[in-house]
Amino acid sequence: MAVLIDGTALAARMTRETAARAAQLSLQHGIVPGLAVILVGDDPASRIYVERKLQRAGEAGIRSIEHRLPAHTDQETLLALIAACNADDAIHGILVQLPLPAQIDPARVLDAICPGKDVDGFHPVNVGRLSTGTGGLVPCTPLGCMRLLETVIEDFRGLKAVVIGKSNIVGKPVALLLLDRECTVTITHILTRGLPEIARTADILVAAAGSPGLVRPDWIKPGAVVIDVGINRVRGIDGKARIVGDVASEGMDHAAAITPVPGGVGPMTIACLLSNTVRAAERRGA
Ligand code: GUN
Repeated sequence: MAVLIDGTALAARMTRETAARAAQLSLQHGIVPGLAVILVGDDPASRIYVERKLQRAGEAGIRSIEHRLPAHTDQETLLALIAACNADDAIHGILVQLPLPAQIDPARVLDAICPGKDVDGFHPVNVGRLSTGTGGLVPCTPLGCMRLLETVIEDFRGLKAVVIGKSNIVGKPVALLLLDRECTVTITHILTRGLPEIARTADILVAAAGSPGLVRPDWIKPGAVVIDVGINRVRGIDGKARIVGDVASEGMDHAAAITPVPGGVGPMTIACLLSNTVRAAERRGA
């Protein structure tokens, strides 16, 4: 039987540690970590994600400020809000929930966030730091994937890692983190030829393609560790909506370990966001 890696439990432990760091920062330096969360429009999934982030922030001793802007908000208005958050000493982390409405260029927005407050790790300075292994804030979902892997893998050196998905949010950064741990990394995507054969070479498989049930049991090498980043809303035959991952939920007994959906990567993304926020505040207090 494959070990189920419990992301909910690990995220709860991480959040307790983050709360302890926040309490120490407050006690020693009088700094309460502050997080500004900006949501433009009313995408239902984004709203749920943002609500969860705000709720968990409170549990970690982080003061969060929510900015909800209407879907027709123009780019200049959003850039002005980011500039105000950059200048506000009580704000240590700024998060702009993606995706943004079509009239706003996400690159312009992400470039405008002060790199030291970029708790998503999406600013080009932080992307560059990640690619050169020189510190910086690291994107939350990839960081969460690494924390989950560390619960079952002691030594990453020389392992073959296959990442399915090439997004800036998950695929590319998780590949860089695995490379930094001396894995041999192959980045693939939905159009990669011979994807099942490549997946079958993996000691570590990270599925982040946003394609429900893409990864079949026969894509998995016996003894592999599988991280399922997919959060896909599908309708079952009973007509009810449910969340499924990118990896088939049955027939994975030959894997060494696998993350469930829900309860795997999802909670870790938020736990890492909170940790990044306190880290950004600690740097300011240092
Ligand atoms: N949308 C989907 N994932 C993310 C994330 O990690 N950060 C932000 N800001 N938006 C997202």
